Amino acid sequence: MEGFAGKVAVVTGAGSGIGQALAIELGRSGAKLAISDVDTEGLAVTEERLKAIGAPVKADRLDVTEREAFELYAGSVVEHYGKVNQIYNNAGIAFTGDVEVSSYKDIERVMDVDFWGVVNGTKAFLPHLIASGDGHVVNVSSIFGLFAVPGQAAYNSAKFAVRGFTEALRQEMALAKHPVKVTTVHPGGIKTAIARNATAAEGLDPQELAKVFDKKLANTTPQRAAKIILEAVRKNKARVLVGPDAKLLDIVVRITGSGYQRLFSTAMSRILPY
Ligand SMILES: NC(=O)c1ccc[n+]([C@@H]2O[C@H](COP(=O)([O-])OP(=O)(O)OC[C@H]3O[C@@H](n4cnc5c(N)ncnc54)[C@H](O)[C@@H]3O)[C@@H](O)[C@H]2O)c1
Repeated sequence: MEGFAGKVAVVTGAGSGIGQALAIELGRSGAKLAISDVDTEGLAVTEERLKAIGAPVKADRLDVTEREAFELYAGSVVEHYGKVNQIYNNAGIAFTGDVEVSSYKDIERVMDVDFWGVVNGTKAFLPHLIASGDGHVVNVSSIFGLFAVPGQAAYNSAKFAVRGFTEALRQEMALAKHPVKVTTVHPGGIKTAIARNATAAEGLDPQELAKVFDKKLANTTPQRAAKIILEAVRKNKARVLVGPDAKLLDIVVRITGSGYQRLFSTAMSRILPY
């Protein structure tokens, strides 16, 4: 894909799923990669695949919730490559549980990774992206950042927050005339390990939930998702909807306004195993 040759791209959560596919597609397109994850085994697989392509790669264990480590990491990437052009704040986790039965700890954990991880990555890299003269922040939200469903209050909160944070940032960069583009990504169901890695509130079986997700909800491959995301980055889109489900559901929400809540709660009660 054009537009990525020689760019230094940072991808968090690059050991699996969308992050791994993004890193590989960026590598194929001529970018130099800085990849990270808490899953060092998955990360090593991505690193090997990038090396096989011949793409320059720096791989590090990084927990996106650790703010100081993220700041140090940003400095180390700039030191390694001399600049950084793009950050893909992709690392994320899923959790299912109604508000009534979810612990504060569970809700905070989702916010820490899915929202604060994005804030940490954006703020740690922003000065370097501005200094590059050609920067891009790509923050991964979800279709659950566009509408809410029962059982996903924690995840919805984090993904709505990512959307607000990123849409404000895009406008700020433009007003300040900073050379940094900003894109929010809203994937629909993507065939990754997210549901298999997910946790759930007491009384729910995460494995059963994962089966439903894998069978009924995940219909776009991570490779296809990566291509769609990178095409949107290349075109400097403010928002990218990934997959036919994301496009359709976005239209339903626009047409029905808050009425979508009645429709979606009925639909979810038919899909979910509880
Ligand atoms: N798969 C989907 O259907 C879907 C839909 C919408 C949004 N998303 C979002 O896409 C992003 C990527 O998810 P995926 O589907 O590829 O899932 P995945 O589970 O396959 O990959 C997520 C990666 O993030 C890593 N990670 C988790 N916590 C971390 C932390 N604290 N620090 C660093 N790395 C961490 C995991 O180890 C894993 O390698 C997430 O933000 C997710 O919320 C996914």
